[in-house]
Amino acid sequence: MLTETFMGILKALRCPKCGWESPARTTFRCSFCSAVLEAIVEIDYLSKSHLLEIRKRTDQTIWRWFEFFPIEDRSAVVSLGEGYTPLIKAARLSEKLRIARLHLKNDTVLPTGSLKDRSNSVGLSKAKELGFETAAVVSTGNAAASVAAYSAAAGLNSVVMVPKGTSLSKMLQACAYGATVVVVDGDFDHDVAGLYKNAVREFGWYDCLSTNPYRDEGKKSYAYELLDQLGDDVPDWIIHPTAGGTGVYAMWKGYNELFSLGWIDRLPRLVAAQSEAAAPIVAALEKGLTDIEPVAARATVAESIQVGNPISVGWRALEAIRSSKGTAVALTDDEILEAQSLLARLAGIFAEPAGAVSVAAAKKLREKGLIARDGLVVCNITGHGLKQPSAIKVSDEELRPIAPDLNALRRRLADK
Ligand SMILES: Cc1ncc(COP(=O)(O)O)c(C=O)c1O
Repeated sequence: MLTETFMGILKALRCPKCGWESPARTTFRCSFCSAVLEAIVEIDYLSKSHLLEIRKRTDQTIWRWFEFFPIEDRSAVVSLGEGYTPLIKAARLSEKLRIARLHLKNDTVLPTGSLKDRSNSVGLSKAKELGFETAAVVSTGNAAASVAAYSAAAGLNSVVMVPKGTSLSKMLQACAYGATVVVVDGDFDHDVAGLYKNAVREFGWYDCLSTNPYRDEGKKSYAYELLDQLGDDVPDWIIHPTAGGTGVYAMWKGYNELFSLGWIDRLPRLVAAQSEAAAPIVAALEKGLTDIEPVAARATVAESIQVGNPISVGWRALEAIRSSKGTAVALTDDEILEAQSLLARLAGIFAEPAGAVSVAAAKKLREKGLIARDGLVVCNITGHGLKQPSAIKVSDEELRPIAPDLNALRRRLADK
C-alpha cells in the first residue's frame, strides 16, 4: 500500500551503452563512454492493484503517476498543472485526412504552451531536491520559457540561451518569468550549444538540456495519460514532432514500462515527424545507421524543431522507432503550414508550425497507405500558435480598420 509520503524510487543513473552506474546523482554522462545516463526508476514492485489505485487519484497532472518518476522527496515537486491535456477526436480533420480514429493530444494548453513542461516539471523538481540554485538551458525557444517558468515556481534563478532570430514572443515569455535571457549570435548546433556547454561547466548550473536524465523521464507521461484517456487501448500509431528525440524515446520507455507490468498487451508504432530542413533521424533511419549523423539544419517555419544534431538521445529515439516498427517522416515547409492551417480551421487548435508537423506526417503516411483508414492514430500537437505568430500570413488589407457602418462592413465581407 502506498503512503502519502511515497515517491519514485531512483535505482540508479545508468549508462545505456556500457552499463556503468554513477555513484553521484549530479553526474549526467558516463565516465567511460560519455553517453547520457538513464534514470532507472524502480517499478517492478507495482501490481495490477496499483493501477486501480492510481485511477482513484484525483490529481490531474503527470504526478498522478509519481511512482514512475525519479523524484524521491515529494515536497520537492514543482507542478504548474502539467499533463492530462485534452485528447480530442477531431471529426472534421479525421474526415479530411481519411483517418477514422484520429486523435489530437493537445499539448498547446500546457502551462507555458508547449510539451517542454512535461520534462521541466520533473527536471526542476530534481533540481530542487538536489539543492541547486540556478537552472540553465539552451533552446530554440520553448524550453527556455518552460525552464524559466518552472525555475520561478521552484525559487531558482534561470539562465536561458537562445540563438539570434528566435521568435520574440518566446524570448519575452522567458523574460516575463524572470529568466536571464542570453541571445547568442551563431548557429544553434555549434556556436550556441558550444557556449552553453562551457558555461554550465564554468558556473556549475543545473543543466536542463536533454543531457539531463531526470528531465528526459517527463515525456514518459504521454504513455500513462494515453492509457487512461483511451480506456486502456493502445494507439496503432503515435506521431510526434521531433527534434532532440526525447519525446519518441521517452514515450517508448513509458509504454515498455506499462507492458513489462502487464498493464497493456501491445505496443504502439512510433513516428518521428521532422522538418525536411532538419531531419537527421529520418536520414539515419533511411541509411540504416545505429547512430545519428549530424546535419546542418536549414531555416524552416518549424523553428522549434530546427535541430540538426540531436546528440543526447537521438540514437535512442532511432532505436525506439525501429523497435516499435515505426518510421520517421520529413515534411516541407508548405506541408507543415498546410497542416497548421487544417488544424486551426478544422479542429480549432492553433499550433505553432513545429507543433503541427505530426498532422502533416499523418496526412502523408495515410496517403502512402502506411496508416490504415481505421487505424487508431494519436498526433501530439506540441506547441501553441501564439509562440510564433509571424507564421500566420495575413495581408494588411485584411486587418485594415473599416468605418463603423453597415455598407463598409458589407464591402469588407464581400472581399473575403
Ligand atoms: C513545439 C515542439 N515540438 C516538438 C519538439 C521536439 O522535442 P523532442 O524531439 O525532444 O521530443 C520541440 C522541442 O524541441 C518543440 O519545441
